[in-house]
Amino acid sequence: MKKVGIIGVGEYLPKKVLTNADLEKMVDTSDEWITTRTGIKQRRMVGRGEATSDLAIKAAKRAIAETSIKPEELDLIIVATITPDMAFPSVACLLQNALHAKHAISFDISAACAGFVYAIAVAQQFIARGGCRNALVVGAEVLSSITDWKDRNTCVLFGDGAGAAVLAEAKSGGILSTYLGSDGSKADLLRLPGGGSRHPATQATIKKRLHFIKMQGNELFKLAVTTMANAAQQALKRAGMECKDIDMVIPHQANMRIILAMAKKLGLAKEKIYFNIAKYGNMSSASTATALCEAVKEGRIKKGDVVLLDAFGSGLVWGACVIRW
Ligand code: COA
Repeated sequence: MKKVGIIGVGEYLPKKVLTNADLEKMVDTSDEWITTRTGIKQRRMVGRGEATSDLAIKAAKRAIAETSIKPEELDLIIVATITPDMAFPSVACLLQNALHAKHAISFDISAACAGFVYAIAVAQQFIARGGCRNALVVGAEVLSSITDWKDRNTCVLFGDGAGAAVLAEAKSGGILSTYLGSDGSKADLLRLPGGGSRHPATQATIKKRLHFIKMQGNELFKLAVTTMANAAQQALKRAGMECKDIDMVIPHQANMRIILAMAKKLGLAKEKIYFNIAKYGNMSSASTATALCEAVKEGRIKKGDVVLLDAFGSGLVWGACVIRW
């Protein structure tokens, strides 16, 4: 099996900023509540007419520009998203067309907030087994399109953005292990009930607000902490490593308190964790993708460092990945 590494990263955040002060004018909430309960200070929002593929294209171009690979040389494009431009075709196909990556296999992955880690694990398999030479993996979301702006329990949490990574054969290091899991018995805890084949869009589904995120935050909070801690341990075990060997953790950014509680369970110092939740909120698959990109660009991840990606989301799904940078 070939070794697989990440050779380029890129991100794109839409320009519009929605602050906690802005939300105070929309629902019964406060900057103090949002900051202390979640760690979020602001989030980015798409402009009118801007969709998930628009963000994905910009992030992907930046990641590709960091490599010597031309778009027409891409063999595989995977987009992790739960907010595609439309039910079909996939965002990956729209991206393939925009990039003129005419030789790439293209498909989307639906694994919510763990989507970017799932996509990396799948792309790794394609390259390691020799089926593809390289892959473009993107986490892109426009969560503002499925956010209920009248529900203070959820509307303060989410944001829009995209992050991308290019994977290719590595001479040394690269992805050392992956660990993925799921538990569909808890699917009800976080879902978008309307607009699918169960509840196709009708005036009644719109009236019942079924086209917006429904979440049981309390339950998820506890599960997120234990599941992410366990996923980290399992991925490290598969890599033959321990927590002390990690240089930088890129966790999913759902709640600052979830990340800190997970770190406490693992005995991880805060300095070894990358946070971008204050700036962007929870962007589902785009959270880990943009956090990885920013950590690299800011020099927080250097060549030879051991990086842990760790994510958890609706499904339930989870995934962790250990990479020697
Ligand atoms: N502003 C002010 N008050 C709010 C509020 C807001 N935006 N949202 C909720 N509240 C209130 C609730 O109504 C509740 O009031 P009550 O006690 O009078 O009923 C109180 O704050 C506490 O609500 P609770 O849901 O227990 O808060 P919490 O500490 O659990 O924080 C979340 C809520 C959503 C921030 C937290 O549960 C969370 O982050 N959950 C996990 C999210 C997650 O992991 N998602 C999946 C992975 S992507």
